Amino acid sequence: MRTIAIINQKGGVGKTTTTANLAHALVLNQHKVTVIDLDPQGHLSTSLGIDYLQQPGLDSVLLHETPIEDCIKQVRPGLSLVPSGSQLGDLENMAMRGVKRGTRLRDAMADKFQDQDYVLIDCPPASGLLVVNALFSTHEALIPIAGDYLSLQGLSYLIGTFKNFEKLGHKINELFVMTRYNTRRRLPQQVMETVKQYFPKRVLATRIREAAALAECPGFGKTIFEYRKKSNGAYDYQSLALDLANGRMM
Ligand SMILES: Nc1ncnc2c1ncn2[C@@H]1O[C@H](COP(=O)(O)OP(=O)(O)OP(=O)(O)O)[C@@H](O)[C@H]1O
Ligand SMILES: [Mg+2]
Repeated sequence: MRTIAIINQKGGVGKTTTTANLAHALVLNQHKVTVIDLDPQGHLSTSLGIDYLQQPGLDSVLLHETPIEDCIKQVRPGLSLVPSGSQLGDLENMAMRGVKRGTRLRDAMADKFQDQDYVLIDCPPASGLLVVNALFSTHEALIPIAGDYLSLQGLSYLIGTFKNFEKLGHKINELFVMTRYNTRRRLPQQVMETVKQYFPKRVLATRIREAAALAECPGFGKTIFEYRKKSNGAYDYQSLALDLANGRMM
């Protein structure tokens, strides 16, 4: 079982799109997958056609110690979701005492997903307590990079966070995926070359191209495999799923 946090504090880089479509691609390759919606915006739940306000959700798990198995919803054959719930944002604001604040998700998940092949955690565009919970729950992070200059600036901050976790004895291996990739522009190419240079053998081989259908499908509560299964978006996420399973890098 691999638990992977899909993470980048930069907004709009394709975290949720990647979580939903990569998960479904893995399922179509006969893997069992659970996705966890760790974003109070609930976009992952919505993308899969589920009301994120549904109770109990991950908010009850993190705030009231509801067992996580009570919140798992099967959304497709082989694909399960833990929706965010309406109160998840309160975790960031609440002055909870004790050192366990950052490890609530890890403790809730312990031994609960042993029958799964992958657990993917869709992180919010933030760097607060929710993300700390994600990082303590995993030893693998998948970082979507959209090909603009500011993506690189935020990246050094994120890598600094991983280094701090390593100092605490918690190692996180980082993988990267190029997202929203425009093949006709030069800047994404330059950003990709820079990431490859700094993180050799860490960038998954497939670039996810900018594609209108990928932006449209959440509006229908469908993944790209349900919305346009013969599109570039479906092809790219299927290819990315194979990269992830086989360790295929650029
Ligand atoms: N490859 C793509 N082609 C076209 N549009 C895309 C692609 N990937 C993502 N998008 C669109 O870009 C926007 C941001 O994507 P997404 O919500 O996946 O990013 P995010 O990192 O999860 O954002 P947030 O930080 O707000 O959680 C959405 O409107 C989404 O539909
Ligand atoms: Mg998102």
